[in-house]
Order: sequence, then C-alpha cells, then structure tokens
Amino acid sequence: MPEPQVVVVGDANVDIIVPYPRFLNEERTRVEYPTPEIQGGGTSANTAVALARLGVDTMFVGTVGDDQYGAFVRRDLVEAGVDVTGLVTDSSLNTVGVFAFVDERGERYLWGWPRADQSFKVIDPQYVPMHAVRSAAWVHSSGMSLTYPTSARESIIAIFREAREAGVTTSLDLNLRVDDGALDPDFAEALRDIMPYVAVLLGSGPDEFAYLGEGDWLENARALAVDGRVVIARDGANGSIAFADGRSINAPAFHVEVGDTIGAGDVYNAGFIRARLEGRGLERALVEGNAVSAYKVERKGARSTPDAAELELFLTQHDNKEVPIHE
Ligand SMILES: Nc1ncnc2c1ncn2[C@@H]1O[C@H](COP(=O)(O)OP(=O)(O)O)[C@@H](O)[C@H]1O
Ligand SMILES: [Mg+2]
Repeated sequence: MPEPQVVVVGDANVDIIVPYPRFLNEERTRVEYPTPEIQGGGTSANTAVALARLGVDTMFVGTVGDDQYGAFVRRDLVEAGVDVTGLVTDSSLNTVGVFAFVDERGERYLWGWPRADQSFKVIDPQYVPMHAVRSAAWVHSSGMSLTYPTSARESIIAIFREAREAGVTTSLDLNLRVDDGALDPDFAEALRDIMPYVAVLLGSGPDEFAYLGEGDWLENARALAVDGRVVIARDGANGSIAFADGRSINAPAFHVEVGDTIGAGDVYNAGFIRARLEGRGLERALVEGNAVSAYKVERKGARSTPDAAELELFLTQHDNKEVPIHE
C-alpha cells in the first residue's frame, strides 16, 4: 500500500436494510417478506470507501469486534481498496449492525444492535498509526465517534491536534446526535475541545448547525467560520453552502431522481476532499461534493458512489445552473 493521502478515523459498521412485510390482499392472509440486505456502513467508513473509489489513497483507523459484522466491515473496506493498517479487531467488543427498517412509504427507522460494548466507541491510542497521520495530506473524522466519553473521543481529538501541528488539513463532519431537541452538554464540550484543530467543518444545515449557537442554522454556520476555518453546510435538495474568509459560496444540488439518501452527506465529504487535494477552488469543490452525493442519491445504499471516470461523466452530463435558494 502507498502512503495514504487521506486518513479517515472513526466509525465503521454494517447497515441491515429491512423492508416491512407487505400484505398482498385485503384480508391480510397473503404476506410478502422482501429480502433484507446487508451493506457496509458507518459515517466515517462511508467517506473512506467513497474516497478510495475515487482513486484517493485512503487509510481507515477504527475498531471492529471479532464477529461476523466485523469481518464484513473489514472485507468491505479491503475490497474498496482502503488501507486497513489502522483497523483494529478487538474480541472484547461488538461491531454494531444498524437496522434500517423501511416502511411502505420509504421512511426509515434506525436501530443499532448490539447495545453493549460497541466497537465504534473505542480507538486505542497505542494502535493509532500516528506516522501516517503526520505524513498524510488530509485527516477526516465524524462527530459520531465523539458523541460518548470514551477512548474514541480522546483519540480523535489527539489525532486532530497532532495532524494540525504537522500542517495536515483536517475535516470533521458533525453528525450530531440530538436527543430531545438539545445537544448533550458533555458532547458540546468535546466539540469545543476539537474545534481549534478543525480546518474544515462540515454538517447538515437545518439538522445540525441549528443546535450550534443562538441564531438560525445559517448564522450559526457563519459564526463558526473563524480562525481560517472553512464551514460547509449541506442542505439536501438545496445543495450546499460554504462560509470562509467572511464570504459565502452557494452550490445548488444536481437534479436527479431519488433512489435513497443513505450516506449522502458522508460521500459528499469524499467528493469535496478529493477536489481540494487536486488543487481545485472552494466553489468547484462544493460542486464536486454535490455531484458525488447526487450520483449516490440516484442509486440505493451508501456504497453506490462513482469512480473518477464516472464522476467526470456525471459532471459533463449534468448542469446545476439553477438559481440557488439561499442568498
Ligand atoms: N434530493 C436530492 N437531489 C439532489 N442532491 C441531493 C438530494 N438530497 C441530497 N443531495 C445531495 O446530497 C448532499 C447531502 O445531503 P443531505 O441530505 O444534506 O445529507 P446530510 O443530512 O447527511 O448532510 C446535499 O448537499 C446534496 O448535494
Ligand atoms: Mg451526516
């Protein structure tokens, strides 16, 4: 494996997509059980796999259990061409399967299992390949692994500090877990701890930046774009918006038919990071993030992202000149 350009650290799990049974007659005597599907998942692993598919040398750092899901995750990463030198298998932990129950209208209800000793919460600092972190061009992670006061949180903050001190660009995707309409104060503190080492902050506009300040989500996102930090808010079918150096840049979404939106935000990060690594400007990087997401949104599951040639073709075949919604 070549030295990785990008190190992605965080959560890897499996997604188990379970469609509801369907009644085939009024009397409900005939029932069809659609076949569940198992796929690679995890907010960080989704970004890592999408990067590798785009041809970026990518290493994943994280933990799985010594179980069936863990073996699936490892195989999924290896098959995508991700360097798994930093993937630890720990037999005292459980790899999480995220059941996505899909009802007849396509709505999803998520439920992670097992609940105890979940491997994504653990990153043992002694196994983190810090030399790869320091020599990478970019380090990326997700708020999913910062949510709990565990070793994953501590290690990710340490990795970001080390990366910044070595001059490596860092990006964090918020992936906030909001329970009962409020951010957990302990999690908010972890975010404050890591923020000085975050060069690029990404998140979901209305769903996440809304909880990170006193204003509306656009004001909150803008307020975080200080100290040279770039802030990117994704906004579903409206595309994405960046705040940097006191200005904002809009990039409208591409028009596509929606297959599903599983992992749309995670794979956006891959399109954005690759574009920046190849020297493209912020505006163009937003367009390429939107394009990787749209390509995926047209298809099902988090793993249906383009390779470099497919992305190129998508970009030449679609234009996104529509007037953006935000000023
Ligand atoms: N319906 C859609 N049509 C086209 N692009 C979409 C659509 N939904 C999402 N996207 C693309 O996916 C990106 C991420 O989607 P979003 O739903 O905002 O994810 P997340 O909530 O994880 O941030 C958007 O910025 C956009 O580029
Ligand atoms: Mg997300």
